[in-house]
Amino acid sequence: MITFKDVSFSYTPTVTILRDVDFSIERGEFVAIVGSNGAGKSTMLRLMNGLLKPGVGEVFVDDLSTHTNKTSKLAKRVGLLFQNPDRQICCNTIAEEIAFGFKNLELPQEEIDATVADIIEDFGFDGARDPFSVSRGERQKIALASIIAVAPEIIILDEPTTGLDYRECIHIMDKVTALNETGTTIIMVCHDMELVLDYAKRVIVVAAGQIIADGNAHEVFRDTFAMQTASLLPPQIIELATELGGQFEQADTVEQIVDIVKARKAV
Ligand SMILES: Nc1ncnc2c1ncn2[C@@H]1O[C@H](COP(=O)(O)OP(=O)(O)OP(=O)(O)O)[C@@H](O)[C@H]1O
Ligand SMILES: [Mg+2]
Repeated sequence: MITFKDVSFSYTPTVTILRDVDFSIERGEFVAIVGSNGAGKSTMLRLMNGLLKPGVGEVFVDDLSTHTNKTSKLAKRVGLLFQNPDRQICCNTIAEEIAFGFKNLELPQEEIDATVADIIEDFGFDGARDPFSVSRGERQKIALASIIAVAPEIIILDEPTTGLDYRECIHIMDKVTALNETGTTIIMVCHDMELVLDYAKRVIVVAAGQIIADGNAHEVFRDTFAMQTASLLPPQIIELATELGGQFEQADTVEQIVDIVKARKAV
């Protein structure tokens, strides 16, 4: 569980980046945080694992305040995939990179080796390769795999599909969904609203450092005022359903629209 209690945050004394942010995310949720560039999304994520501390208010991971608990302790519960995977990758081989998170966990070496081998096979990596000799998309997957390896209860993803092709994107999102289905909390910043509608159940909209909408993905995307305030375009299917109006207004998929048309024809 992640809780923000009236959080404000500034990098410099003159500019407030987040203002009065107050929300909580329960265990097992799949939440997307959306907003335009510079809205404060990555800053919110860095506050969630204690990399940044709030200037005002408090952030809790379960019952642990990030003010008083070490980032290394919080890291066992919260894994953060950075917006740029190259800021995360630090080892000479993919296998070492995936094993890196186990450093302070004091697990038997055989257990670590078996988990790393499983992950390498699952993702189809060549464990002996230098992570910087593979594509940006592959490095994104390596960074994600190294977080998944240590199985934190909460996984935070900062734009996990940026720079990936469609197949790679679905591969990552399916992995993340499978983790969510087994109880892992997923918090994801994403600029692709279609992807957010497909995967996230709850959407938090951030504009100029404040939360302006928070709720069920379908409802939030139909909140025209919030979407316009945050300079976001809702997923096309929501726009189409809204434009069609009437019976179609609540349709969330093309299939639902087709069903309504078929039902009309049958009458
Ligand atoms: N280390 C820093 N020092 C000073 N200002 C910063 C720092 N990091 C971010 N900022 C500023 O804080 C604001 C919010 O940045 P943040 O990275 O949280 O936005 P974001 O919503 O993640 O944007 P994007 O969609 O472009 O990733 C921006 O104005 C940014 O310039
Ligand atoms: Mg960001």
